[in-house]
Amino acid sequence: MTDDIVSLDLPASIADALAATITPIATEHAMFDQLIGDLRSVSCQPGTPPQNDPPDAVLQHLPGLVAAMPLTPASAALRPFLDSVGWYQIFDSTHVPDNLATGLIAGQIVGGRGHLVSNELYLGLFLLAPNITYPLHQHASLEIYCVLSGAVSIRHGRAKPAQRIGAGGHSVTPPQQVHELQTNDEACLIAYIWTGDLTGENWWWEEKPDGSWDRVCWQRQADSSWKITHREPLFAAEIARAGDH
Ligand SMILES: [Fe+2]
Repeated sequence: MTDDIVSLDLPASIADALAATITPIATEHAMFDQLIGDLRSVSCQPGTPPQNDPPDAVLQHLPGLVAAMPLTPASAALRPFLDSVGWYQIFDSTHVPDNLATGLIAGQIVGGRGHLVSNELYLGLFLLAPNITYPLHQHASLEIYCVLSGAVSIRHGRAKPAQRIGAGGHSVTPPQQVHELQTNDEACLIAYIWTGDLTGENWWWEEKPDGSWDRVCWQRQADSSWKITHREPLFAAEIARAGDH
């Protein structure tokens, strides 16, 4: 089913499409060049996405997102994958509220469970249900989001204003930069790239009742889902490294 849309040239063609869709701002140029350059040159092998039934959030929200999706080079390049990625729930529902666990869904195109298998870079689709807050978190990878349909708000720090990103918009998040995503009453479909240091840790920041903060470590599992492994108090050096100012 996917043979006609997958070849080893695929990363380069998607890189071209993203570069034709996204206009980085001045502070993003070096990171954007790294993201697109890494995608163009990624080493990968043909793979087979898991053939599981899509989670309910995909069945519920993807048709509307596709209907509303503006035509851009990125959406044209990625639309053929909406039906063939192995959509999966990103976070374990035993550790987060049910609406959050069931409302954050990903499907890899390049990565451990993608159409093309790579351990150098992840490229895929990310679906957020309405009224979801993906709390402040940080990871070592360099990340870009390109919104394909719907809208999301992103903020880069506890005191930072959120920035609303609609279809055609983008966000670049440097390594270790703390960030939060939020949807309102509409769902959102995003194309993402993770590159650089793909260390399998994702630290969520959590305010405790006494006003102090912990950070909670999620570790990536072999199937690319995440599970909580440990927590520690948030300390000054980490707050500084996370761009939380
Ligand atoms: Fe992120």
